[in-house]
Amino acid sequence: MDAKLTPRVDQAVAYILNKRLWQPSVAIVLGSGLGDLAERVEHRECIAYCDIPHFCSTHASGHAGQFVTGYLSGLPVVLLQGRAHRYEGIANHQASFPIECVRAMGAKLLVTTNAAGGLNTRYCVGDLMVVDSHIDFLWARGLWGAERCQTQLAPSRVPPYDWSLIQTAHSIARQLGIGLQQGCYLATLGPTYETRSEYRMFRWTGADAVGMSTLPEVLAAQRLGMEVLAFSVITNVASTDIPQSTTHDEVVALGHAAGPRLMRIIETLLNERAGHPD
Ligand code: HPA
Repeated sequence: MDAKLTPRVDQAVAYILNKRLWQPSVAIVLGSGLGDLAERVEHRECIAYCDIPHFCSTHASGHAGQFVTGYLSGLPVVLLQGRAHRYEGIANHQASFPIECVRAMGAKLLVTTNAAGGLNTRYCVGDLMVVDSHIDFLWARGLWGAERCQTQLAPSRVPPYDWSLIQTAHSIARQLGIGLQQGCYLATLGPTYETRSEYRMFRWTGADAVGMSTLPEVLAAQRLGMEVLAFSVITNVASTDIPQSTTHDEVVALGHAAGPRLMRIIETLLNERAGHPD
């Protein structure tokens, strides 16, 4: 294990490994309404986030808040079933803490999922999108956090999203006959869904979808040298012209409905990876 582990990561990982000695090769984060994939994990064992030292529990509905170990498509995996969000009052380093832990346990690939609002006018409710870039309105600066920005300017970022995995996701989606969009994810702090004017402004940024998560974990994974693949389920589309509000219940319900298509893509991808171990 990495000798430079921070004591907090060290303690959390020791607790998890004490429950189950485990070396995952893939970590998967399951976002709003997308927790059902955990049911498909074989030899599954779960640990509640609230029991793991230094882990933040999540109070967002549609997020079980547990750490799940087992096998998916023949690969040892760890699933983060639900996530704590910045809008729940936590700092960026707390939102990315679980990624530090799974990396320390050995995971080399992060597959992360979220529910998002469609900004791209071609998107429909229920569409899936693979993320190829992002706009960071969480100001989640990762290694170049506030404490460092004062003394050092950061280089511009290389996108964390692995290009060849994006291509693989497309070819699997085609094989399975599942539509897959590709686009830019804009992360906002929330916790409210957007007003019509905010949706209009976010559309103007050029982003294709908007959500309230994902970037802290993606940036941490990039910093830790992990491959990253991120998907959004478009649970609602930005309503800029008619006064129609987005509710969390709709978002979670749509996540449950569209989730199985996304899960087929992820499982097939892991299957291919299991056949071609690195
Ligand atoms: N805005 C922000 N986050 C979201 C949305 C949205 O419209 N839908 C799902 N998560």
